[in-house]
Amino acid sequence: MLTAADLSMLNSDLTAEVMEQVDRIIEDNKGKPGCLIPVLEDCQRVVGYLPVELQDYISERLDIPASTIYGVVTFYSFFSMVPKGRHVIKVCMGTACYVRGTKEILKRLTEEFGLEVGQTTQDRRFSLEAVRCLGACGLAPVMVVDEDTHGWMNPKKALEILEQYK
Ligand code: FES
Repeated sequence: MLTAADLSMLNSDLTAEVMEQVDRIIEDNKGKPGCLIPVLEDCQRVVGYLPVELQDYISERLDIPASTIYGVVTFYSFFSMVPKGRHVIKVCMGTACYVRGTKEILKRLTEEFGLEVGQTTQDRRFSLEAVRCLGACGLAPVMVVDEDTHGWMNPKKALEILEQYK
């Protein structure tokens, strides 16, 4: 059985401190019906994402097959198997934004930061997501960074704005 110390060695994000919290989450929920999703949510809140080794650890302790956990993590978009960046960029791909050029913005960002949609930069500065209508079509094309909505974007403006997010 994987120990918390094994995980700390396998993944530097899973420190002893983090694993203590993970253990507490598992203990608090173990045996409760439907406990898997709350455990995964709380673990993701603590760790920031759900790496495979952590899924295996949870699988052994909740006695739920790793394949089931993997299926749940990959099914729900709010779970992530890759670490999130310090800043999450959401580029709207809804119709209003799309026709006004978000595709070009997205292309420019992927080139500039060397990442694809759903990925995080090596330095963990940015994660990039393409999302559905953000409900701000009057500002199309829209890019949201963390909690900040930026409207009337173009590729150049988007890069200038991202300079403020270190
Ligand atoms: S389509 Fe982009 S905000 Fe609605």
